[in-house]
Amino acid sequence: MPNETVSWSRKNPFPAKLLVNRGLSGPYSANDTRHYELSLAGSGLTYEAGDAVGVMESNCLNLVQEILDALHCSGDECVPGEGGTQKRLRDALWKDYAINKPSMQFLHALADKADDSFLRSLLTPEHKPALEHYLEGLHIVDLLEEHPSARFTPEEFVSHLRKLLPRLYSVASSPKVHPENVHLTVATVRYESKGRLRKGVASTYLAERVAVGAVVPIFFHVAKGFRLPENGDIPIIMVGAGTGIAPFRAFLQERMAMGAKGGNWLFFGDQREKEDFLYREEFVKMRDDRFLTRLSTAFSRDQEEKIYVQHRMRENAAEIWKWLEEGGHFFVCGDASRMAKDVHAALREIIEMEGGKTPEQAAEYLEAMEKTKRYKRDVY
Ligand SMILES: Cc1cc2nc3c(=O)[nH]c(=O)nc-3n(C[C@H](O)[C@H](O)[C@H](O)COP(=O)(O)OP(=O)(O)OC[C@H]3O[C@@H](n4cnc5c(N)ncnc54)[C@H](O)[C@@H]3O)c2cc1C
Ligand SMILES: NC(=O)c1ccc[n+]([C@@H]2O[C@H](COP(=O)([O-])OP(=O)(O)OC[C@H]3O[C@@H](n4cnc5c(N)ncnc54)[C@H](OP(=O)(O)O)[C@@H]3O)[C@@H](O)[C@H]2O)c1
Repeated sequence: MPNETVSWSRKNPFPAKLLVNRGLSGPYSANDTRHYELSLAGSGLTYEAGDAVGVMESNCLNLVQEILDALHCSGDECVPGEGGTQKRLRDALWKDYAINKPSMQFLHALADKADDSFLRSLLTPEHKPALEHYLEGLHIVDLLEEHPSARFTPEEFVSHLRKLLPRLYSVASSPKVHPENVHLTVATVRYESKGRLRKGVASTYLAERVAVGAVVPIFFHVAKGFRLPENGDIPIIMVGAGTGIAPFRAFLQERMAMGAKGGNWLFFGDQREKEDFLYREEFVKMRDDRFLTRLSTAFSRDQEEKIYVQHRMRENAAEIWKWLEEGGHFFVCGDASRMAKDVHAALREIIEMEGGKTPEQAAEYLEAMEKTKRYKRDVY
């Protein structure tokens, strides 16, 4: 029964029961990418393919304990939590504050308390690159342990922390197929730094700290700019690397449910075909059923030289140009810093070469595609 009296939002997240937590990566993969299903039953919430889910995670209790030890606190001390309400230090560190990467405010306070002239000099504007290098992989607890002379009262310590912010994850399901639940595709962030295993807050909260059957506080983040064309006859080209595949699984489910007749072309890139071909069976079946018109994969680490999605795009330049000229929509999802830039450059090159355009004309063509909402990116 939909609950129509409660309006769920970022401020009042819905407690969604975790139904499924399934590994998608092979046993020898360098990644641990997982498929999650969350129940929306009784929430009255609806979503659209292209939207994202905000997850209100909490911190790892082991890390909370490490910080309490470094602060010489029991955790029962009273401090202001999120919104100013008084709570136990342990609970505030668990749920309210970001306790991994240090804020600038904390670094300044630490430099003063420890009278650390090296750190103080790193905090000057001219040493910004050196500071970034120094902070790589460095957590608050490492800094507390490296500066035992710096003593903070519990209240003072939390006053230097940032709020714990929710993380966004692209919806990986279509509400037409799964109206009562929502799927996510999440790469678990784990890395080693300063001899310790470090964990991304939200991705390991989902992977390790929420049991199936327990609830995850969520809200929907509407992405109006990342939508399928309403007309199912329009062809679509989707380019996704790694977890960038998530919204395209949703799009394909949606187009199938709509009975869309337009072509569907998926470019997918990841490290190794055997270990990292996310949702392989589903996409291969869609291709074999001739619903997914083309499936072009790029596995970067299966051979000596890197092969990325943009290499596959270049190999198919004439065909991509044809789809664009037929009014096709072009979608990109995944890493913003490298992949999306390179895909953009490849697309411009294809337009230039195949459309016989100057670099300026190709840039204008892309701008026009963006303006008419035919070139859409969801990159992070
Ligand atoms: C619109 C949008 C959609 C998104 N969709 C998805 C999605 O579908 N799937 C998905 O998995 N993610 C997605 N993300 C990213 C996601 O929101 C989180 O940023 C990601 O999961 C990391 O969050 P975390 O809390 O686990 O890690 P955090 O605690 O935020 O830690 C991540 C940080 O750890 C540090 N770090 C990571 N690796 C290393 C390393 N090897 N060495 C040193 N430092 C390192 C980096 O500083 C990095 O910024 C999306 C983001 C946006 C904005
Ligand atoms: N902004 C961010 O902080 C950010 C964004 C995305 C992912 N990540 C992190 O990276 C890890 C895995 O994430 P993910 O599964 O989404 O995959 P990913 O790291 O984005 O990698 C997916 C594929 O993209 C390839 N790739 C690397 N550079 C590329 C480029 N310039 N152009 C095209 N493809 C390129 C990778 O190849 P190679 O690795 O072999 O070069 C790999 O085959 C997670 O820990 C995730 O949190 C961080």
